[in-house]
Amino acid sequence: MNLKNEFIEFFKSKGHVQIPSAPLIPENDPSVLFNTAGMQPLIPYLMGKKHPEGTRLCDYQKCVRLTDLDSIGDKTHHTFFEMLGNWSLGDYFKKESIGYSFEFLTKVLKIPVERLAVTVFAGNEDIPRDEVAANVWRSLGISDNRIAYLGVEDNFWIAGDSGPCGGDTEIFYFRSEDPIPDKFDPSDERWVEIWNNVFMEFNKDKDGKITELPQKNVDTGMGLERVVAVLEGVTDNYETSIWKDIIAKIEEISGKPYQGNEISMRIIADHIRTAVFISADYAGIKPSNTDQGYILRRLIRRAIRHAKKLEIDTNSNFMEQIALEIIKKYEDYYEEIKTNKNVVLEVLKNEGLKFNRTLEKGLKEFSKLLKNLDSKIIDKDNAFKLYDTYGFPIELTEEMAKENGLSVDIEGFKEKFKAHQELSRTASAGKFKGGLASSGEIETKYHTATHLLNAALKKIVSKDVHQKGSNITSERMRFDFSCDHKLTDEEKRSVEALVNEWIMEDLPVTMETMSKKDAVASGAEAMFIEKYADIVNVYSIGDVSKEICGGPHVQHTGELGKFKIIKEEASSAGVRRIKAILE
Ligand code: ALA
Repeated sequence: MNLKNEFIEFFKSKGHVQIPSAPLIPENDPSVLFNTAGMQPLIPYLMGKKHPEGTRLCDYQKCVRLTDLDSIGDKTHHTFFEMLGNWSLGDYFKKESIGYSFEFLTKVLKIPVERLAVTVFAGNEDIPRDEVAANVWRSLGISDNRIAYLGVEDNFWIAGDSGPCGGDTEIFYFRSEDPIPDKFDPSDERWVEIWNNVFMEFNKDKDGKITELPQKNVDTGMGLERVVAVLEGVTDNYETSIWKDIIAKIEEISGKPYQGNEISMRIIADHIRTAVFISADYAGIKPSNTDQGYILRRLIRRAIRHAKKLEIDTNSNFMEQIALEIIKKYEDYYEEIKTNKNVVLEVLKNEGLKFNRTLEKGLKEFSKLLKNLDSKIIDKDNAFKLYDTYGFPIELTEEMAKENGLSVDIEGFKEKFKAHQELSRTASAGKFKGGLASSGEIETKYHTATHLLNAALKKIVSKDVHQKGSNITSERMRFDFSCDHKLTDEEKRSVEALVNEWIMEDLPVTMETMSKKDAVASGAEAMFIEKYADIVNVYSIGDVSKEICGGPHVQHTGELGKFKIIKEEASSAGVRRIKAILE
């Protein structure tokens, strides 16, 4: 049975029109990173706008929820999942909605009624207890023992903090071999929620005020993975037909069985599937240090780390092999998966290459750290070093710490991270706005080139040259420096040649964290020494340059390409300005 098709056909037979899945990355809505529910793209219509397809809709929708990230590795949670949904936009309400769900579950999917139970909204000071919904369930044969009334926490649904909302009724399935208890206990984990019907009749504004919507809507969501597990009679979602081939692929690559390696295999499978969907989206998300790009990076890097645990050669194309298995499964349902297949493979390959460069060293650093630790906490400096030098997302360090019975000074890390961002801001005269967070690859190259130019000017022109400012765009760099004369053509040529020589030498760029005092004593250059925090990062390029700086920088000067001065001019009294490009 193909659940997606059965669901859509059923609701079409009840007068619904199928709408396509909205993109995973919401269009025109910067307030959320991902679509978290099928209703999200329908908000204007739930609020009263007329939908071109009418008042009864259904779909299967791609969703990503990050609240459950830490649960990934268990049997039932996924970061990406598909939600089956049907909607009434001011059309039918509780009776029909519950009736359709019941009919679909018991007649089409043939789920025995004894295995079902429901929760309904117990009400609060503003909204009465939902006896209407409860009575509909009773009329369909659900006994009082199987109806639980729960409060706002459980049975009132809203996406985020404001917007259309309402009480809901949730349908549970008893997923266990044990005898089914007569009385339904929603906190008993053998009862798994499979479908949520929300009766959206209210709007909550930004101040928390609740008013009635112009129309009464129904918004439902059924978790595809869970229901497939129910239908296939397994208690582990990853043993269903959805995941079977993907897990088999991981078994094949690692040469290890799923049994005994479940957690790492589930994490790899889940994270690569989500990475496939994020990078296939037309929004063109690439791994980065902000927003969706950071999530993508985290997922890929965590998958790589777990692959390493399974002793998979992480320098191989294992992620691409798994991704191909995933793409095969979804390309007929989601057009972008087919169209952007190569984009996806490229993203996985590049991010894999990037992380693998530092992974081995980072893991060694971590083991060393474990040995030398005299408390149960990984301090902020080490956490930051793992992040900045070895590319370990902080959440990964946290996970590794936890596996070893340790914790991480997250607050300290955050402070350091912030200070680091501020440093970057200062160092590049406000150009690296989010610090390391928002600089692209090309800006990073220019940033390193700035240090080389600074050093070359000191060598060729005068040791009294000091940086007065800098401004970087993806097109060029601008560098202001103290100097009492217009550079001669000979000076310009020599400076350019020296920078290019250093680039050719492919000098390593390294970073150390130290106190400001030590940094100054070590001879590190700084533009506004008084503006830095007490602990600073010092970047060295071979032995030609040493500067206090927030970064980011390339790892080797060979990455820069050819350096060319395009203009030298006066900036203000005693300050000259060079504009240069990398070709
Ligand atoms: N919007 C509801 C949910 O996501 C159906 O649970």
